[in-house]
Amino acid sequence: MSVYETIYKRRTIRKFKQEVIPMEKLKRLVDAARVAPQGGNMQALKYVVINEGKLLEQVFKTITWAGYIRPAGDPKEGEKPTAYILILGDTEIKKEGFDIDAGAAVQNILLAAVEEGLGTAWLGAIDRLKIRGFLNIPDKFVLHTLVALGFPDEVPVIVDTDKCIKYYKDDKGVLHVPKRKLENILFFNNHIN
Ligand SMILES: Cc1cc2nc3c(=O)[nH]c(=O)nc-3n(C[C@H](O)[C@H](O)[C@H](O)COP(=O)(O)O)c2cc1C
Repeated sequence: MSVYETIYKRRTIRKFKQEVIPMEKLKRLVDAARVAPQGGNMQALKYVVINEGKLLEQVFKTITWAGYIRPAGDPKEGEKPTAYILILGDTEIKKEGFDIDAGAAVQNILLAAVEEGLGTAWLGAIDRLKIRGFLNIPDKFVLHTLVALGFPDEVPVIVDTDKCIKYYKDDKGVLHVPKRKLENILFFNNHIN
């Protein structure tokens, strides 16, 4: 699969097969994050793999899924993620400003996951306080975001849009993800509007 094919194939997945993800796959994803570009090459991000039954359920309860279509976009019983990778910022390495570094690192995870046959959802609407509590995360770490993972059990599709960017499910339950058209986001030289 080419890089472009991978980029277009990757969609946020919120419906997963209930198959265990081999630990080697999860390690390879974190290794892909490890070599992402990082400001000042500081590499202040750390990664927690969560794949143990009770913790999976606890993490699941902290997530707000698919805000535009709640609750239709929530994974149901038998569709939940089978692993998570929690992204932490280590404040002993740098105090703040983890967003751009996390963007680069997490995108590596999301794209590498496609090659591994996995689906992902990058999640920001999570209850960080609760997660810190039940995972016993020391204060020196900022809880950045979470990546949900599993073997995908849905195939969302991209649709071009001029206006509404809200994703929706059609009458067959297929998730449609509007993306603004290239002509609406690309400018050349000083022809900007
Ligand atoms: C920083 C960030 C935070 C996100 N947080 C959530 C979230 O909390 N819950 C959720 O269901 N999806 C979340 N998403 C997924 C977006 O809804 C999704 O990327 C968007 O709808 C476009 O779909 P696509 O990823 O298939 O292109 C998040 C995405 C990003 C980049």
